[in-house]
Amino acid sequence: MISLTDLRRFKAEGRKFSCLTCYDASFAKALEVAEVDSILIGDSLGMTIQGHDSTLPVNIDDMVYHTQIVARGNSHAFIMADLPFMSYATVDDALINSRKVMQVGAHAVKIEGGAWLADTVRSLTRNGVPVCVHLGLTPQSVHVFGGYKLQAKTRSAADQLLEDCQAVVDAGAALLLLECVPATLAKEVADKFSVPVIGIGAGVDTDGQVLVIQDMLGLTFGRVARFVRNFMREQSGENAIVDAIKAYHQAVLDQTFPAKEHTFQVEL
Ligand code: KIV
Repeated sequence: MISLTDLRRFKAEGRKFSCLTCYDASFAKALEVAEVDSILIGDSLGMTIQGHDSTLPVNIDDMVYHTQIVARGNSHAFIMADLPFMSYATVDDALINSRKVMQVGAHAVKIEGGAWLADTVRSLTRNGVPVCVHLGLTPQSVHVFGGYKLQAKTRSAADQLLEDCQAVVDAGAALLLLECVPATLAKEVADKFSVPVIGIGAGVDTDGQVLVIQDMLGLTFGRVARFVRNFMREQSGENAIVDAIKAYHQAVLDQTFPAKEHTFQVEL
């Protein structure tokens, strides 16, 4: 089974690692067969599974249910679970809700934010919960951003994001996840910090890559983000789903995904 120690070693060795969202046991098994390195039970399940138009309606009981059924189906990957909207607004809430997902099979929790989460990260880490901090486009704040848009487009916004990363890493964050930021900034973050950095819409230089599984299997109808590649389109035959997932894992490892067309290039 892949542990946090393995992810740290992969970073030290320059071996990229793959991550996909997953919400049930069947797909968890497919990810195991394809040897995907890590799984995120993302609160994106609010859209992909529940049919909402954002992650905001998801609650901790939803996360516990999906974490439990994913963990039953996969004994290979490092498993992260999102703490949903407002479930970590206080340090006590974060501790109570992390306990719930860790006790049903998560190996880490992911929370969205920046420097203001330092006390939460410190407290969770001291209590045995590895924390992944999600920065850049943080979907739980979609109404603050006014839409799903590229973040940290200026030098000063990029410097602010670097300061936020520093604060949460100093507090003990085990991983960082950057969503929808310029590729040059994501490279700066990955080069500067020794913790593994996962990217989505953040270019090829992060240590790991994540996608929403429905997106990479071509099951998202309507607008698809620029950073998505449909790996299913290239497959045929009875094992097409597992083959698409294997192709994604391999493309992350050999750094053919994400390519330039999936990346935001901005001079900072
Ligand atoms: O909830 C989710 O799926 C996520 C990914 C987009 C990183 O946070």
